[in-house]
Amino acid sequence: MSKSNETNYAIELNGISKVFGTVVANDSINLKIKQGEILALLGENGSGKTTLMNILSGIYYPDGGSITIAGKEVSIGSPNDAIYYGIGMIHQHFKLIDVFNAMDNIVLGTKGKYEKPKVMKEKILSISEKFGLEIEPEKKIYNMSVSEKQTVEIMKVLYRGAQILILDEPTAVLTPQETEKLFNILRKMKEQGSAIIIITHKLHEVLSISDRVAILRKGKLIDTVQTSETNEGQLTELMVGRPVSLKIERPETTGKKTILNVVDLSVESDGAPALKNVNFKLKKGEILGVAGIAGSGQKELCEAIAGLMDIKSGAVLCNKENIIGKTPDEIINLGISMSFVPEDRLGMGLVGSMGMVENVMLKSYKKDKGLLVDKKPARKLSEELVKKLDIVTRNVDMPVRMMSGGNVQKVLLGREIESNPNVLITAYPVRGLDINSSYLIYDLLNEQKKKGVAILFIGEDLDVLLEISDRIMVLCHGEVKGIVNAKETTKEEVGLMMAGMSLKGDDQDE
Ligand SMILES: Nc1ncnc2c1ncn2[C@@H]1O[C@H](COP(=O)(O)OP(=O)(O)OP(=O)(O)O)[C@@H](O)[C@H]1O
Ligand SMILES: [Mg+2]
Repeated sequence: MSKSNETNYAIELNGISKVFGTVVANDSINLKIKQGEILALLGENGSGKTTLMNILSGIYYPDGGSITIAGKEVSIGSPNDAIYYGIGMIHQHFKLIDVFNAMDNIVLGTKGKYEKPKVMKEKILSISEKFGLEIEPEKKIYNMSVSEKQTVEIMKVLYRGAQILILDEPTAVLTPQETEKLFNILRKMKEQGSAIIIITHKLHEVLSISDRVAILRKGKLIDTVQTSETNEGQLTELMVGRPVSLKIERPETTGKKTILNVVDLSVESDGAPALKNVNFKLKKGEILGVAGIAGSGQKELCEAIAGLMDIKSGAVLCNKENIIGKTPDEIINLGISMSFVPEDRLGMGLVGSMGMVENVMLKSYKKDKGLLVDKKPARKLSEELVKKLDIVTRNVDMPVRMMSGGNVQKVLLGREIESNPNVLITAYPVRGLDINSSYLIYDLLNEQKKKGVAILFIGEDLDVLLEISDRIMVLCHGEVKGIVNAKETTKEEVGLMMAGMSLKGDDQDE
């Protein structure tokens, strides 16, 4: 790819449009990105961000408009074309082959197969030095953390000579420390003249990493602003189209009655201890926040309580009866109806090829003998959820995998909340959701709390946990480091416990 002399624009989008059926996902978008610039792409769920980037990376072909790369009009008809023009995209769902090592994945499909392994490895190491990527070429993908896999994906596109890097919500699954590492790589790439487009819903990240912000609303480009001249309030207003209050309510807890009493719970995962003698009580009408760096046992805690994982020892008591090992029906007979919003939405929660109606029906496991299951209630509920949660979908029968990421999330949460649980376990319920939808979810959780539902809220944003929870339990390496009153604690205190310091005992009073 030759660089044009007369302009320093890496990409120019002119009047790009894309329509899916009746949905105008992108509506005549004009956008320019300079070399050596980091542009944040911001917009509510379903506003067209991923679609626009998929057009640049050759996954979709636009219905209208043109694309200019380094001063020349181009036609990007396939992902290979995109690579040819130096465009590399890091998708939210990685496309690596698990049983291969990093190097095999990186060179896969390049002319690397004609090169000697030593040459390829040297090339990888020199790129990793240039941009500060930490990579072990021989490590198998299945042994890698999410963040390591992401580094391999980035290396993969750099190996192909990408000058333009697109990242679709790359930080959604990273810890704050991993995010900082990624941002340092991006800053290095920027210094070397790359153009970077990053999609994220986290406004503090937008403000820290980008030079400029482009805001999409309902498929249209609303504005682009200089990052140094904007703030969270203005960005939210541009996204939503009206001022939004960024305040979370904390209604008084409605009861003191213990619903679940977790006693000395220990769980192993792949032979290693994942939870060690965990003790806590979950009470009626409270939100018990769970803080901890990713992988501290949150997933195992949820799955053990929900009965989806074997436990090593301990008990989860409801009225002195252990619910572990009981069937869903037996648990319901004890007076517990549990809803669970897992971390892995499409894997555990929803079936991507089914529409909303059928996914809603999955929850109310119909055991009727007849073949004719009545779809009407599920259809009615689906339509209500679309209205209540502002779900963007063509109709309630459209396969959920065609929905934008955030809307998939709303379907799952809506379904779980509407099943009238008295215990709600929710892991990262706003991950991937835009600001407005996040606050909608906080309101919904508070509404449930007021009804007396006992809520276990696994969170990652400490500011939010401090605002919404009644108590916060901190996990570190599978151990409870303390349970503190959310109104009295500070971010620093919780942070220290997350890092392993035991500060306070249990504040549970009965
Ligand atoms: N393959 C498809 N078929 C039908 N509709 C689609 C398809 N891909 C996207 N859409 C629709 O286009 C619109 C824009 O979706 P897109 O995924 O670009 O949103 P987004 O801004 O990335 O949202 P999010 O923040 O939730 O990821 C949505 O209404 C979505 O349902
Ligand atoms: Mg998206």
